[in-house]
Amino acid sequence: MQVETSSSKYGAKHYPDNIREWKKEGNYFCFYTTETILEVRVIADKIIRFRYAADGTFQRDFSYATSDTLEEAPITFGIREWEETFEIFTDVLRVFIARDNLRITITDHEGKVINQDEMGYHWQHYLLKGGKIQYCSKLVQEGECFYGLGDKPTDLNLRGKRLENYGTDAYGYQKDTDPLYRNIPFYYGLHHGIGYGIFFDNTFRTIFDFGKEREDACSFWARGGEMNYYFIYGPDLLEVAESYTRITGTPELPPLWALGYHQCRWSYYPDTRVKEVAATFRNRNIPCDVIYLDIDYMDGFRCFTWNKEWFPDPVGLIKELASQGFKVVVIIDPGIKVDPDYAVYQEGIKNNYFCKRADGALMEGDVWPGKCVFPDYTNPEVREWWSSLFKSLAESGVRGVWNDMNEPAVFEMGTFPEDVRHDYDGEEVSHRKAHNIYGHLMSKATAAGMKKYLLPNRSFLITRSCYAGAQRWSSVWTGDNVSNWEHLWLASVQCQRLAVSGISFTGSDIGGFIGEPDGELYTRWIQLAVFHPLMRTHSASNETGFNQEPWSFGPEYEKVVTKFINLRYQLLPYLYSTFWQYASKGTPMLRPLAFVAQHDVATYNCTHEFMFGDSLLISHVSEPGMKEKSIYLPAGNWYYYFNDQVYNGAQTITVPTPLDEMPLFVKAGAVLPQYPVMQYTQQIPVTEMLLHVYYGDQEVKSLLYEDAGDHYGYRNGQYNVIRFKQASSPQQFRLKKKFYVNYETTYQQYRLIVHGLPFQPTAVIIDGKKVALLPENLLADGILSFTAVRNFEEIILVAGE
Ligand code: GLC
Repeated sequence: MQVETSSSKYGAKHYPDNIREWKKEGNYFCFYTTETILEVRVIADKIIRFRYAADGTFQRDFSYATSDTLEEAPITFGIREWEETFEIFTDVLRVFIARDNLRITITDHEGKVINQDEMGYHWQHYLLKGGKIQYCSKLVQEGECFYGLGDKPTDLNLRGKRLENYGTDAYGYQKDTDPLYRNIPFYYGLHHGIGYGIFFDNTFRTIFDFGKEREDACSFWARGGEMNYYFIYGPDLLEVAESYTRITGTPELPPLWALGYHQCRWSYYPDTRVKEVAATFRNRNIPCDVIYLDIDYMDGFRCFTWNKEWFPDPVGLIKELASQGFKVVVIIDPGIKVDPDYAVYQEGIKNNYFCKRADGALMEGDVWPGKCVFPDYTNPEVREWWSSLFKSLAESGVRGVWNDMNEPAVFEMGTFPEDVRHDYDGEEVSHRKAHNIYGHLMSKATAAGMKKYLLPNRSFLITRSCYAGAQRWSSVWTGDNVSNWEHLWLASVQCQRLAVSGISFTGSDIGGFIGEPDGELYTRWIQLAVFHPLMRTHSASNETGFNQEPWSFGPEYEKVVTKFINLRYQLLPYLYSTFWQYASKGTPMLRPLAFVAQHDVATYNCTHEFMFGDSLLISHVSEPGMKEKSIYLPAGNWYYYFNDQVYNGAQTITVPTPLDEMPLFVKAGAVLPQYPVMQYTQQIPVTEMLLHVYYGDQEVKSLLYEDAGDHYGYRNGQYNVIRFKQASSPQQFRLKKKFYVNYETTYQQYRLIVHGLPFQPTAVIIDGKKVALLPENLLADGILSFTAVRNFEEIILVAGE
């Protein structure tokens, strides 16, 4: 045992000494030093879990992050003994454990180092607060970049930074503010084109240092709990993302309406104002699916009540809105007003459901309703109770819930003091351990309740705070941002980062929550948000009376904003297919360029460009008055969406940025399915699905997923997966299609629009049958339009024929 000097707050640092014994049991191995035990568990070929018992005793093996359905795949693995190391191997990885000090080196079978301990595991008594600080330090590899960590509002590449996870109500945060609302202790490393991830599943305050303190060390530590991390190998970063998402759980499909446009404000009230906003959308032909009720719908901010004066007939209001195609989402905060006449308070007190301080007093603090108490969601019985409270909301027609202030936020104090006690599913812990999962479990209980009472419909949830894995039941937004241009960039970076941290269903408050955007900023923000899975305008305009709706900035902006909300609705089949890819495989919906071109170092620090799904590359217009923007395109050919101009990738190009366009590119070879514009999702049955096909001479695959857009029939196989493959050459266009179909669509035919065809054919061959093309099939130079039956398998266009 090696021990370093101590200070009064922290004890000495302890480092493991040599391995004395080892054993194998099932898929795990234990290595024993004098004090410390290392458990190495082979979860999959490419996933290894490391756990350390500092002084000989493991803690309860329990996680709020990992999915219950995580299966440990049957795999080949074994152990070899070397003079200085033990080696655990799988078909893909070799994990070396130093006999001297437990330090880990992970390589592939060619001997390439993927990840290597610097000092490795060590620990320190936390004298002041109890428990142990659990450290692990790794060597930074040559040229290594780091990504991930949830919602951090900073550059995508985290090299040189130190960041913390301790959920914080960060009103009006700025670039580099840390910590923020969410707690996602998961990062990626990328060096020599090799990608891997580390998920440190520990709910105490966690800190990550990516070469800030010591240039060659990447360390992570927690102020308590256990060193418990999953090492996830790629080498493709997207594969790491998929594995991480499978470990922490994939989401259900949202109702299709949740992918439409959402309109929010603090607050729309009374009911007549809500109706007026809804009517304005319909009168102006601006699509919208969702309207939110912020805190003022409640009676004195008491959760699960309605303000009788402003909302005398909630059921009637929601019905009326539903008849116009709107869904209503309401806010529910954790703070329960201290009021002996309020049923929720009474029940919680009677059953001892509220959090208490160390000495037994209730945890009281001020939030919107004044003095509040707070349910202990870490108690399973409290979660059950909380779920049951959503019955009446669901019965009144509410289709989605918005969980806010759940870091937890408390005025003046910021959050709970550390002495607050929590059940933690039977463990009895202090707030130090429960803080980072408070909002996580609140949202889990909310989702369970809404799901139960809304069946057979799918429900929708948005939460502000959470821990790793909340993607299983909730979407998130980036919190209280500000109406300025830097925040537009932050919104883009934060959503990309959240997406690669398992949480793709994310968006920012369009236009900014604090302050007032001008028409140009609002329009540019709408444009970016078309490509965020969650598209919601929200603003804190309660006091100023400022309006932040698509029509608030005058006709010039309204026209462009409408064009882009229309585009969102046109792209819905593509968005939904991308969501299915995420829900079924864990593939992030938003992909930073480094994640799609990791062998191209020019992408490593790109923050402005990202991919949405397999086929679209986006960059936002980032400055006022910007006339053109330079964009880095990865290798391949790219069509500029608005005029079909083709650009070669692996270089920086410049495109003009008039107000009614934005840098939006389609990958050559892709098939982009589109719906006609509707005022809300499923307003009218689709009679013809548009397939925009972009000619490309490299083989490219695309996907179309379809189901009822609501309900759970898809879980019983009632869906369609259609896979397209374009394999064209300069003389021949060839599109093949394979499908699983078990859901009856409302349309029977596709309209194909082929872009960029380098020749002019006279006929189209559909499944071997030749159909002559007429002049009206030629829409413009190189753009052909024709129909094909839904079950076609192959379409060929030949030069000269
Ligand atoms: C918080 C939320 C914000 C909401 C407000 C009032 O600041 O982040 O979105 O509008 O509270 O409920």
